[in-house]
Amino acid sequence: MAAKNAVGLDIGTSSIKVCHVRDNRSAIELLAYDSIGLPPDTMRDGVILHAPQLTARIQEIFAINKIKQRQVAVSLSGHSVIIKKISLPEMTVAELEESIQWEAEQYIPFDIKDVNVDFQVINAHAGQGQMDVLLVAAKKAVITELLDVVRAARLEPVVVDVDAFALYNAFELNFPVPPTETVALVNVGASTININVVANGTSAFTRDITVGGNLLTEEISKQFAVPWEEAEHMKTTSETTLSMSGVLREVQRISQRVSEVLISEIQRSLDFFAATAMNAEIGAIYLCGGAALQSGLIEGIERRLSTHVRAMNPFHNITADGKKFDTTLLARMAPSASVAMGLALRKNGDR
Ligand SMILES: Nc1ncnc2c1ncn2[C@@H]1O[C@H](COP(=O)(O)OP(=O)(O)OP(=O)(O)O)[C@@H](O)[C@H]1O
Ligand SMILES: [Mg+2]
Repeated sequence: MAAKNAVGLDIGTSSIKVCHVRDNRSAIELLAYDSIGLPPDTMRDGVILHAPQLTARIQEIFAINKIKQRQVAVSLSGHSVIIKKISLPEMTVAELEESIQWEAEQYIPFDIKDVNVDFQVINAHAGQGQMDVLLVAAKKAVITELLDVVRAARLEPVVVDVDAFALYNAFELNFPVPPTETVALVNVGASTININVVANGTSAFTRDITVGGNLLTEEISKQFAVPWEEAEHMKTTSETTLSMSGVLREVQRISQRVSEVLISEIQRSLDFFAATAMNAEIGAIYLCGGAALQSGLIEGIERRLSTHVRAMNPFHNITADGKKFDTTLLARMAPSASVAMGLALRKNGDR
């Protein structure tokens, strides 16, 4: 029997998401999806601040959703991961496995003893006897910390991925674009923006920018002198409640300003990509992440980058039983579900 899909477990700064699917060959069927908020002091910039709190919330979300599968796929993002495209002399995968540690040393700003190194050959014959390899290095201490939390929740981590790659897996499943088209996947979370530019059917450029929707919460909290939770509520709450007090206009003004900051960061990364790559013309931007909903972001990106922005709904090509799922609720959760969805496509034994 083919291996079952692991449960995608996305531990974000603001919330945990779980996604479980069954691969029926002809279709991917959604078995479970949910998210659960985290207290603000649990995670900061992808670093675990309060491990027991996190473990408890993971157990809770598995229990509420009655998920029996214990094997999970988790991911890393932010400063603890380095992804680089490097060029090496052509060699076999076995030879590369032998030498990658040594080759990686010169590209990684950390002590090589402190990191786990992985790779993927993206072009075995790049010309002139060279090959293109995607190098991924992650701090061992950060991986250990994450795995400890997951194991403490009595789960078995079978895959450790990277947010940007999970994003790509979710995208590929739902939006089959021709490999000749270059697209940018942009996931705007609470504390991180993951970018993955896809060209010729592979990742041509990835970057994690450590800023996100938290910036808007901070600004609202400062401007109105209200605690974090209240500011968070003000920015996500329905417009009618706020407009009664006239606060809405002010929140939107702050949101527009903060969006400009996020857009500048995204633009900077995409400009960098454009300056260093072939196929640099980005045909479309697929946007997701909870903070992609903030006022001024989508229109701002379209205006400043003169590129079409599409919503990346990770449930687009997924079948979900209408009797089991509230489709309205699912649609509301979709923007922040991409990483969990990408992780849910992984199976035990995957690289
Ligand atoms: N309607 C909305 N308007 C504005 N912001 C929103 C809205 N809904 C959610 N957000 C913001 O989206 C962010 C959460 O998004 P998401 O769940 O993708 O992040 P995360 O995965 O927890 O964080 P990260 O990936 O950065 O660790 C929060 O900052 C939240 O305030
Ligand atoms: Mg996230």
